[in-house]
Amino acid sequence: MITIENITKSYGSGSSENRVLKGISANITDGDYVVILGASGSGKSTFLNVVSGLERADSGSVKYDGTDITRLSDKALTKFRKENIGFIFQQYYLLPNMTVEKNVRMGADLSGNENYKEMIEAVGLGDKLTSYPSELSGGEQQRVSVARALAKKPKILFLDEPTGALDEDTGRQVLDYIGKLHKQYGFTVIMITHNQNIAEMAKTVIRINSGRITEVYENAQQKTAYEIGW
Ligand SMILES: Nc1ncnc2c1ncn2[C@@H]1O[C@H](COP(=O)(O)OP(=O)(O)O)[C@@H](O)[C@H]1O
Ligand SMILES: [Mg+2]
Repeated sequence: MITIENITKSYGSGSSENRVLKGISANITDGDYVVILGASGSGKSTFLNVVSGLERADSGSVKYDGTDITRLSDKALTKFRKENIGFIFQQYYLLPNMTVEKNVRMGADLSGNENYKEMIEAVGLGDKLTSYPSELSGGEQQRVSVARALAKKPKILFLDEPTGALDEDTGRQVLDYIGKLHKQYGFTVIMITHNQNIAEMAKTVIRINSGRITEVYENAQQKTAYEIGW
């Protein structure tokens, strides 16, 4: 369980202070599939970064099974992220001079001896182990980043607009892999999108506007990536 209590975050100070998160509280259950919706500039990425420990809140707490990560030292926070959290962004951030296999193995920052090849196969790229990113389509590159994020078997997968740079067909395909892997491995999904349709894939939808949660609801039925509009 992730318990988020009254987090605030501002950038700048004095007359140029930008209050981005104005007191956000939420509970996220283990294994949930959460989609965070909101207009550009509403604070979605800042929220995700604070909840995942990439950035520090100004106040409030973010507890993972009771452990408040806002109180951890930088070193302990890095260890926590490494052991528990995977990230996928709009940009793929693959290393251009490394093969698919090396990108996943090195980029995953593996904390144990997990079988990372299993994840490359799980995203349908078992035949691309020795390819370089430039030899892959955008969708394939994003699937490499999915394999990289999941290779260490994280408890929580954070995604910030994972289909933002993809066309409809490849976007659906990436979301389909993520949905299937979520079912198979049971990690928690927390995904940002501004595509309202993608919210129909979620179990829980959180809407953010101007740094506040304005709506939380559960979908009675979760749709697959091929059942939603685009
Ligand atoms: N590192 C930063 N420094 C200064 N301002 C920032 C920074 N990150 C985000 N912001 C500002 O915070 C606000 C919310 O940004 P963001 O969380 O990225 O929103 P969203 O992801 O919903 O588009 C915007 O006004 C943005 O300019
Ligand atoms: Mg954003």
